[in-house]
Amino acid sequence: MGENLFDFFAGTTSVAKYYKRLGYRVETSDFMYFSYCLQKAYIENNTAPRFERLLPELRIASLGLFITPLEQVIAYLNTLDPEQGFIYTHYTPRGTANLSQPRMYFSDENGGKIDAIRRQIELWREAGLLLENEYYILLASLIESVSFYANVAGVYAAFYKKWDPRAIKPLRMRPVEIILSNRENKAYYADSMTLLDRIDADILYLDPPYNERQYAPNYHVLETIARNDNPEIRGVTGMRNYTTQRSHFCKVASALDDLDRIACGTTYRYLVLSYNSEGIMTPEKIVEVLSRYGDVEMEQFEYLRFKSNNNGLASTKRHIWEQLYILKRR
Ligand SMILES: C[S@@+](CC[C@H](N)C(=O)[O-])C[C@H]1O[C@@H](n2cnc3c(N)ncnc32)[C@H](O)[C@@H]1O
Repeated sequence: MGENLFDFFAGTTSVAKYYKRLGYRVETSDFMYFSYCLQKAYIENNTAPRFERLLPELRIASLGLFITPLEQVIAYLNTLDPEQGFIYTHYTPRGTANLSQPRMYFSDENGGKIDAIRRQIELWREAGLLLENEYYILLASLIESVSFYANVAGVYAAFYKKWDPRAIKPLRMRPVEIILSNRENKAYYADSMTLLDRIDADILYLDPPYNERQYAPNYHVLETIARNDNPEIRGVTGMRNYTTQRSHFCKVASALDDLDRIACGTTYRYLVLSYNSEGIMTPEKIVEVLSRYGDVEMEQFEYLRFKSNNNGLASTKRHIWEQLYILKRR
């Protein structure tokens, strides 16, 4: 289906990474900054970082022949002592001991390590010791590592009130994979609706939010680690404000309007929309909008989802259809 892809709702970049590995030229966009860090590291960066300015300054004993510069820098970051920064103070039990429900997103130790690593990366950047790609590779490595130690069920909209065994293991940062490429891959930190006239792709891939739940609250802690901006936060979960990160795809009327604007206002050979049978736009409406611009086919795959009931004692099976709408532009 061509040789370049635009991933309009990039998120964790999983689809974009897949196409980049296949040799496509890939462009990605998302309005979450933590996603942008992942996009810069996985998609826009095409080479193994050498950290030529930083490594001589670290004066670390050689860790062996077979360890890459990225692994050396990360090994150094893993030796830092915990600090009492923003994450420790707002998302660990000891840091929030004054609250009626202390927050248990991270153990005290791991919250402090995240602060120490995040501060060190910023100090290196301010000292001119990191190239741009190196900076984002370190941030992406931190963002991805943090998720292995967070005391949450996948997303950050709530934390467990007891410790998940993962969350009490000492945090070890791990390097992200470097995906080599000689294509001009590009990442955008934007409301993708502002990019319509720049998009010219063989495949335009859309994986929008499909229900009324916004994405930003699900990832608020990662967003704060990525932005490092000490935001005002509120409520039991310590949520940051996300008024500029609300998606039109979370309301049915504006979702259909935006789908129409995207299908009409961008250049592509194929538009591929990933959706599912629990989405707020109905298949009939989606097909009605897309078929204004060409021929539409829909493929669907069934899968079973287990959902806990309210008291968490039993689970019910639900059959969901994962749907792909493929529009071939006329
Ligand atoms: C279903 S997720 C995409 C998941 C992605 N395919 C992956 O592999 O992780 C939807 C994404 O769209 C982003 N988003 C929603 N509306 C947006 C908009 N108007 N502009 C940019 N990003 C948006 C959200 O931040 C979220 O990351």
